[in-house]
Amino acid sequence: MRRPIIIGNWKMNGDRGSNQQLLEALVADWHQDSLEVVICPPFPYLDQAARVLSGAPLLLGAQDVSSKEAGAYTGDVSAAMLADMGCRYVIVGHSERRHNQAESDELVALKALAVLEKKLIPVICVGETQQQREAEQTLAVIDKQLGPHLARLTQKQLQNSVIAYEPRWAIGTGKTASPAQAQEVHAYIRRQLGEAAPKVRILYGGSVKPENAKALFAQTDIDGALVGGASLQANDFLAICRAAANGGTREV
Ligand code: PGA
Repeated sequence: MRRPIIIGNWKMNGDRGSNQQLLEALVADWHQDSLEVVICPPFPYLDQAARVLSGAPLLLGAQDVSSKEAGAYTGDVSAAMLADMGCRYVIVGHSERRHNQAESDELVALKALAVLEKKLIPVICVGETQQQREAEQTLAVIDKQLGPHLARLTQKQLQNSVIAYEPRWAIGTGKTASPAQAQEVHAYIRRQLGEAAPKVRILYGGSVKPENAKALFAQTDIDGALVGGASLQANDFLAICRAAANGGTREV
């Protein structure tokens, strides 16, 4: 079975007051455990979120991690620290980090490994730019981004990972990949995963909203979503969660 997951990526938004309101609204309304719902606040608010979410069927995640274990890495946060704070999921290689912080495919794979070593689940993000899509390089870009993961992670580790396909042109732009466009890339990604393939959850990300969620989740290889903007509005985020819950689990 592949249990759907919806992950809210708050990015660099919020403060103690607004976080508290949003978290409390989610906890008050979400009681299902037919899917996993994960909230990824900025690092300084992990402890606040852990407290509000404790006992609720909502899990905690982080937006990034260091590939290093510990030591003289000013400003970085280790996987052990995230585990200690109660995180279960860690986003690695989000396109904003690949582009703004020049993170390489290799570094992203090392981050995924660091996360897996602490028994957490990496959410490995991949996706092409508009220009790459227009040049019909989408699948080649996916190959290049996934390559170091396929080389370094065992089948078991891949099985314990989540992949998020997020076309860069759809992130924060209001433009969503059509369900067919997304399904094509998800199916391609799944074919690259070897024996682990049927068990790996592959999420779509990029302007997911209540209005487009249902059609996306109806696709065979879309197992949920990584949600940015809409995760900052309790009602929108909950509507997306309900759409995924109604989509049901996938037999493998
Ligand atoms: P968006 O962001 O939903 O605001 O497009 C998605 C993401 O960056 O994960």
